[in-house]
Amino acid sequence: MNSFGDVFKVEIFGESHGPAVGAVIDGMPAGLALSPEDFEADLARRRAGAEGTTPRVEADVPEILSGLHEGRATGTPLCVVFRNADARSGDYSLFAAMPRPGHADLAARARYGGFSDPRGSGHFSGRVTAGLVAAGVVAKKILRGASFSAALLEAGGDADVAAAVKGASEDGDSVGALVELRVRGIRAGLGEPFFGSLEGTAAKALFAVPGVRGVEFGDGFAAARMRGSRHNDPIVAPDGTTSRNGAGGVNGGISNGNEIVVRVAVKPASTIKKSQATWDFSAGAMGELSAEGRHDACIALRAAVVLEAALAVALADLELQARARDGRPGFPAPATEDEDTQGRKHP
Ligand SMILES: Cc1cc2nc3c(=O)[nH]c(=O)nc-3n(C[C@H](O)[C@H](O)[C@H](O)COP(=O)(O)O)c2cc1C
Repeated sequence: MNSFGDVFKVEIFGESHGPAVGAVIDGMPAGLALSPEDFEADLARRRAGAEGTTPRVEADVPEILSGLHEGRATGTPLCVVFRNADARSGDYSLFAAMPRPGHADLAARARYGGFSDPRGSGHFSGRVTAGLVAAGVVAKKILRGASFSAALLEAGGDADVAAAVKGASEDGDSVGALVELRVRGIRAGLGEPFFGSLEGTAAKALFAVPGVRGVEFGDGFAAARMRGSRHNDPIVAPDGTTSRNGAGGVNGGISNGNEIVVRVAVKPASTIKKSQATWDFSAGAMGELSAEGRHDACIALRAAVVLEAALAVALADLELQARARDGRPGFPAPATEDEDTQGRKHP
């Protein structure tokens, strides 16, 4: 489905070359201060323009159609829309007969019986993640006091990300990358085990981002090669602070008050100039596909903020679930809905 969340509910809609993309966000605390300008910084991080990103540049001006009155969330569904303007659908006509290896062309055909919008990869375009970034902005406001960061640790196995992206672009190819997300200031006690564990909820949101191939917390897969004496995080204070963070800030599916650390493997873009073998439905035989058009050589360059948003949406949902249940001693009091993000009281 295109919706996520139990209390903070986010629904993503739109197609790459349709009239618009966006999100409907329900379950928002009424009174949250919000303005269209709040979206700009994160949208700018997703916008194309840098080396290794698509030449398609959209203005991404958020239009808030509902749920906001006089700078405050009303508590009813917030609908944020981004109009599509810079679409060139002709670039994609070939992929109906020759599905791109690695892309969603063929799988979407099977799932939607041939009715999915193929223009610009339709609902499977990175364009659709603009709505997720918008939802992330709202989620971060709910998670007042938490600070997020996203960094590309490597691309194609190379710590010199710029060089790896340049090399792939020059070869008419693409390159994958590893994104590390860190969140400071998430209180201990978020997570609803078993199936609503923090890792499970976050992974569900992160895997929804197109191009994600792997998610790990803390030591992640390296934990399988460790002994307990090395992996276990020494607890050095009564508030649960640890001197290392192999758990990535989560024990038992619940935040432990330390930094949340998640690494996400993002694949190389499927649409490349370099010739690839695929089935040619018009010829009824194997063919060679060389994709023209405007594409990201390294998805992760623009996806990092999308992943950050997905994590924020998951954490905001868990935060609102925690606020909805009884407060427990030993945990900081939840932020109140009658304060805005600057801590100012309002009616
Ligand atoms: C921000 C962003 C930009 C993307 N840009 C491209 C692109 O230019 N070319 C491409 O082939 N895939 C791109 N993708 C990835 C595809 O959308 C994705 O690979 C496709 O939907 C298939 O899904 P899967 O990779 O999760 O299996 C992008 C993804 C994101 C999040």
